Amino acid sequence: MALYAEEQRVSALSILDLVAMKQAGEKISCLTAYDASFSRLIDLAGVDLMLVGDSLGMVVQGKTTTVPVSIDEMVYHTQCVVNARQRAFVIADLPFLSYSAPEMAVQNAAKLMQAAGAQMVKLEGAHLSIIELLVEFGVPVCAHLGLLPQSINQLGRYKVQGKTENDAEKIVEEARKVEQAGASLLVLECVPADLAKRVSTSVSIPVIGIGAGADCDGQVLVLYDMLGISLGKRPKFSQDFMKTAKNIPDAIQQYHQAVKLLAFPASEHSY
Ligand code: KIV
Repeated sequence: MALYAEEQRVSALSILDLVAMKQAGEKISCLTAYDASFSRLIDLAGVDLMLVGDSLGMVVQGKTTTVPVSIDEMVYHTQCVVNARQRAFVIADLPFLSYSAPEMAVQNAAKLMQAAGAQMVKLEGAHLSIIELLVEFGVPVCAHLGLLPQSINQLGRYKVQGKTENDAEKIVEEARKVEQAGASLLVLECVPADLAKRVSTSVSIPVIGIGAGADCDGQVLVLYDMLGISLGKRPKFSQDFMKTAKNIPDAIQQYHQAVKLLAFPASEHSY
């Protein structure tokens, strides 16, 4: 591939590398990615994980929620990201209602892994039997707890989850259960920082936080939020790294370094 003619090829990270980072106390950096050009920049900056998130429905397609995103759209964007990646581990979202029945979940995970080249699929909620089934067939699963954007029409609005002791305990229990069901990774979205710390120390799988404070094993942001180019208001938990950067590669590099050095997120980004 001419694009990489002068660049040294390196092998992609595996789930074992991510678990080793958790065990060593090294923070895992993650950004969402939706196309080849950004995939290459994120990869070259040394970011450990790329999430092809169904947030693409909002930041790429201009929809108001992630609900309309289809599996075919996820396959297309995952292919774009995988085509340009060398080192970063790639996770792809199973979109809304694409894993609501066992056979459908397996078929759609196959599309993301076989046709598109994802190394892991992510699904929202503690759907233990679906996680167990996918894992049984060799599909690595990332669970997603806390705020579940695909449930926005039940929630009514995007808001912090796990604020009462009952709700917090439920999230800790769900985290333990998704690990027992075989999930290899957990994304925890929009929960109080002390709850995220409890979750991260309650499970041995890496916990990647977004709006979940500094004590998770890693951090993820929506790429367009951290570049300050998202439509609408940037969430409190995000930071516009373009404000201090000389260009886009520098902003991505600054984010990666800030996660590794525990400079991001700060208390003003936490609940
Ligand atoms: O779709 C997405 O970008 C996500 C992140 C918000 C974690 O799931």
